[in-house]
Parts: sequence; C-alpha cells; structure tokens
Amino acid sequence: HGIIRRVVGKRAQEGDLGARLMVDPDVLAEPFPHYDALRAQGRLVDSGIALASAHHDVATAVLRSQDFGVGMRMPENLAGVMGLAVKAGGRWTLGPVQPPSMLAVDPPDHTRYRKLVTRAFSARAVAALRTRTEEIATDLLDGMAAKPGDTADLIEDYASLLPATVIAEMLGAPVEMSRQFLEWGAGAALSLDAGLSYPDFKRSELDLEALNSWMLGHFETLRRNPGDNILSALVTAYDQGDRLTEDELISIAMLLLAAGFETTVNLIGSGAALLMEHPDQLAVLQAEPDRWGNAVEEMLRVESPVQRTGRIAHRDTEVCGIPVAAGTVVVLLIGGANRDPEVFTDPHRFDVTRAEAGENIAFSSGIHYCLGAALARMEGEVALRALFDRFPDLAPAGPAHRRPTRVLRGYEALPVTLTRAS
Ligand code: HEM
Repeated sequence: HGIIRRVVGKRAQEGDLGARLMVDPDVLAEPFPHYDALRAQGRLVDSGIALASAHHDVATAVLRSQDFGVGMRMPENLAGVMGLAVKAGGRWTLGPVQPPSMLAVDPPDHTRYRKLVTRAFSARAVAALRTRTEEIATDLLDGMAAKPGDTADLIEDYASLLPATVIAEMLGAPVEMSRQFLEWGAGAALSLDAGLSYPDFKRSELDLEALNSWMLGHFETLRRNPGDNILSALVTAYDQGDRLTEDELISIAMLLLAAGFETTVNLIGSGAALLMEHPDQLAVLQAEPDRWGNAVEEMLRVESPVQRTGRIAHRDTEVCGIPVAAGTVVVLLIGGANRDPEVFTDPHRFDVTRAEAGENIAFSSGIHYCLGAALARMEGEVALRALFDRFPDLAPAGPAHRRPTRVLRGYEALPVTLTRAS
C-alpha cells in the first residue's frame, strides 16, 4: 500500500487539489473550501489519478449513466492497498464494499442481489419499524439521563447505539451485540479510505475477520432457528438452491450490517451538532414540527455522511458534454455537489426551511441509490426529535472530535451537557 500513498502524497505536496482531497489533514477537518476550489477549477478536474467533480449536475449524470459502473477487477496487490479486499488465512475475508458486495458489482448481479433485499427496506417496512425505533430512543435517553454528572457523549451513548440496535434487530442478531458491531464497524470503516497507514490496515483486517466469523456462526444459528428477519430469508434463499453463493450471502449480510449503522450515526451526530450550533433553527422546529423531514434533508445536504463515491467508465462516453475515455475513474464529491451554488442558494448556510434541501444526493443516485434511505431518514428524524424533546437545552461540553475517515464524515466524540446550568 506504500505505492499509492507515495504517489498521492507526492502529488499532494505539489499542490494537486484532487490528491490533497485524499490525504491532507486540513481537508479532513474542513473539506468544503477545497470542494469549492475544485468546483471552480472545472466540471471534471484531472487529478492525475482520477477525474474528480464537485458539481451537482456532473455527479448526478455519472451516477445515473449506464456508461459508468462500479465493477472492476483490481490486481490483488492493488486491491489490498485500497483496503478493498483483505486476504486472511488463505481465503478472502469479505468486507462490506468489495465484490460481490452490492455496492461493488454491476448488473446483472447487482439487480439479482438488490431484488432479494428491497422489500425489507421499503417505505412500508420502515414505517412499521418507527414505533420500535422510538422505544429504543426512549431507552437510550433514559440511560443518558440516569448517568451521574449531567453530561454524556452523544455519539457513544446515543447516535451510534440507536441505528446499531435497529439493524441488529432487523438482522435477527442479539441486541447485546450492538456495541461489538460498533467496534468492528469502526475498524471496517477505516478500509474505505485510500492511503491507509499500516496499523489502520491491520486493525481493519482484524475487525473484518472477526465480523466475518461471527456472521458465519450467526447463519448457522438462523438455520437452526429461523426468525422473521431479512437474514433468515437470505439464508433460506441460499439453502434452497442456486440463487446465492456463500460469498454473496456473507457479502450482502456484511453490507446491510455495516451500512446499517456506520452512516446513520453520522447523520444523528452531525444533525445534533448543527442544531446546537444554530439554536434559531432548533426554535423553528420546536414551533413547527412538520418541518423535521425537511430539516433531516438539510442535515444530509450540509454534512453528508458519505462524502464521496466513485465510478469507472465502461466505454468511451461523455458527461455533460465532456469526453471521458473507457477505463477512467471518476470521483464524485457528494459533499461538494450538495453545496453547489448552481442548485443551492447560499449553499454553506444551514437552513431547515430551505425549499431545495431535498435536491441533495447524500444517498447517491441511479441504480445504487441507498437501499436504506427510508430507514436512515426515519431513524434520523426519530432520534433527533426525541433527543431535543427530552433535552431542549442540550449544549456542547468540551471539544468534539471528528472521525478520522474521509469517505465517511461525522463525529467520533461529541460531549454534551443535558441541561443548561442555571
Ligand atoms: C448505498 C448513503 C444509511 C444500506 C448507499 C450509497 C450512499 C449511501 C451514498 C451509494 C453509494 C454509491 O452510489 O456508490 C447512506 C447514508 C446513510 C445510509 C448517507 C445514512 C444517513 C443506510 C442504511 C442502510 C443502508 C441505514 C441499511 C441497511 C445501503 C445499501 C447500499 C447503500 C445496501 C447499496 C445499494 C446498492 O448498491 O444498490 N448508501 N446510507 N444505508 N446503502 Fe446507504
């Protein structure tokens, strides 16, 4: 993995903006000015390694285009570098974002996987989970209120546990596993970033291995004792014939689990931070609770939990009139597209009443549009409403820490006081 790190590092030193976006620590803390600069350089900017865009129309066009896909077979050493695949004990340990993950394959496989899981995440299925999600929120808030000292870490005590518990229940896993999932998930998330350090690479590998072997054991449990959950249905589909291979089964399960909490935690954490920073916006929501849905869209827009994704051109093509050669990798800066002034007026302003907030592409677009979008929106709204209903004076108590990841944006720690000192 030294090679990519050196190449990217050298280009970054030379001031290449596309490369800096991948490695520069300042960019991690505050990527938005850098997206603005990249957007000003052009619609599709050549960083030497890939083309990159922070334009909303370009990002949307690429994501929706049939000339682009996600499937690419990388040489094994390179795949290791990118953290896209990890070799362990002579067999591939499948992580949530490498083939045959849904996210990393093109049709027809993509279509086949997605069909198997779509129903469990439909708007109707999600609506049925709302009451249970409200109960989970209440339990977690009770736990926070019962802690001595009137302070809490909003990420550890609330934002991470709520989605982890919901997805654990959806997958038929014991609820006590939620905390363990979060630990493994944090390691797995490191592998999304390029130029990973060796200790991070190792950690990521170990956590993925642990998650993998737990998952294999869980399948056995579900075979003996099937429940009314999405994984039992998948295990049955696998057992009943040729609809899924074992690798496909593990891969779908790992993606559902990891995607189920690694991203929503950031929506809840960043959303809470935004409302604490902007009491006027919280006041709008307290006066007009109907606006919560739009507020969640606005949070997804300004603090997109997934900051970027990528596609590869499968054939010579063009995007918004710009020619792109077959084999070209295009990096789409979702966080930049969501602050494109051509679509969003005064784009850096957080405004829960913004009419065009829903134009954001935080959940991507096209055939890989987030399967869990309805679930994430519901969880975000339920979690934040319950939080500010219970603790309307919630305030920061000490410095917040950002996650060290670039693809995923959010907080690792967010200390708060539950009530204002009188
Ligand atoms: C795909 C974002 C929550 C499951 C995606 C993609 C994005 C995304 C951007 C597409 C990436 C691409 O086009 O390359 C988010 C955000 C979330 C969230 C911002 C929370 C705020 C969830 C949840 C689940 C989930 C709760 C539930 C299990 C998935 C799956 C895919 C996906 C399975 C792959 C879909 C496919 O390839 O067809 N998500 N996600 N996500 N997401 Fe989410």
